[in-house]
Amino acid sequence: MGTSSSFRWTSSDTIPSNFILPEKKRPHLSQVSALSSIPIIDLKNYTGDGDNNNVPDSSLLEKISHACEEYGFFQIINHGIPEDLCNKMMDAIAKLFESMPPEERKQFFTTDHTKQVKLFNYYINNDSANSQDKVQMWSESFSHPWHPIDDTSHLLPGNPPDYREVFGEYAKEIYELMNKLMRLISQGLGLEKDCLKKRVGENPSLRAQANYYPPCPEPELTLGLNVHTDLNALTVLRQSPGVTGLQVIKDGEWVAVDFAPNAFVINLGDQIQVLSNGRYKSVHHRAVTNKEQRRVTLAMFYGPNRDSVIGPVEELVDEHHPPLYRNYRYSEFQDEFFRQVETRRMVKEAFQFKK
Ligand code: OGA
Ligand code: NI
Repeated sequence: MGTSSSFRWTSSDTIPSNFILPEKKRPHLSQVSALSSIPIIDLKNYTGDGDNNNVPDSSLLEKISHACEEYGFFQIINHGIPEDLCNKMMDAIAKLFESMPPEERKQFFTTDHTKQVKLFNYYINNDSANSQDKVQMWSESFSHPWHPIDDTSHLLPGNPPDYREVFGEYAKEIYELMNKLMRLISQGLGLEKDCLKKRVGENPSLRAQANYYPPCPEPELTLGLNVHTDLNALTVLRQSPGVTGLQVIKDGEWVAVDFAPNAFVINLGDQIQVLSNGRYKSVHHRAVTNKEQRRVTLAMFYGPNRDSVIGPVEELVDEHHPPLYRNYRYSEFQDEFFRQVETRRMVKEAFQFKK
């Protein structure tokens, strides 16, 4: 396997063979539905502070609930997070990938998934029977904890010089937003507003993952990120302005997530699917590449810590809705996830009761 720095995004008009997916795993971009995208939800009239008894208006909860049931994905606008801060964050990430000095690159690059701060590439197994080869995804990812940022800030890269500061500010804003979203999603399920947050548990695991997708001369032959569901509870994703690439499965078809100005893409992870007893969906998605523009995204993940016990919330279980999943410790779920790495993930299925 090459080192991190051997891969410098070709200047040729073909991609190196270690990026070429077997036919059936390619994106087949002409088959992606041009018709629908995911719902866009306006938070303009939602103040969302958890300290009062303010119940959000029912049409907002209905929209969120519908999006969570039907798509597992939505975008939010008028969320109150300054666009300028988000743009600075995305610029800092682009710089981080594009101009990280080789020594720093070496320091962060790892295949050890237990590292707190890590630069890495995703691979999938080339499952042709006689091949042990792995296919590399057309992306690079950088992952580290995001809250409380003061504890880990010193572990973050010193380049670009404003990365730590901008990230710290960004993380604070996202923490508030994450809390708001967890309340809305709880209320959407008809639960107390704190219910899901309590069930995800104390000391949640809060990790950030920046993804960098260089322009790709042959987008039909490769993927930026393979098909997956997020294994955590909730993800807040920011994309670099104007460049699309995220696609989600809707009714068995791939649908492109349109770019919406100053929006965040929100998606539910496997833990919300389990907690909601299958009512809300953790949906398969992928990132595709394009020939013209590099794309940068920042995913902020919110999930349980390894000791939290996750299972369907009792209020959502009754004789018509028997429990679909058994209770498990999140460490079991993560261990199953790492057993399945580089394959198409089917993690929560391992915790599902057999019909
Ligand atoms: C992820 C993810 C999508 C994107 O990081 O889990 O799905 O468009 N990212 O980068
Ligand atoms: Ni994802």
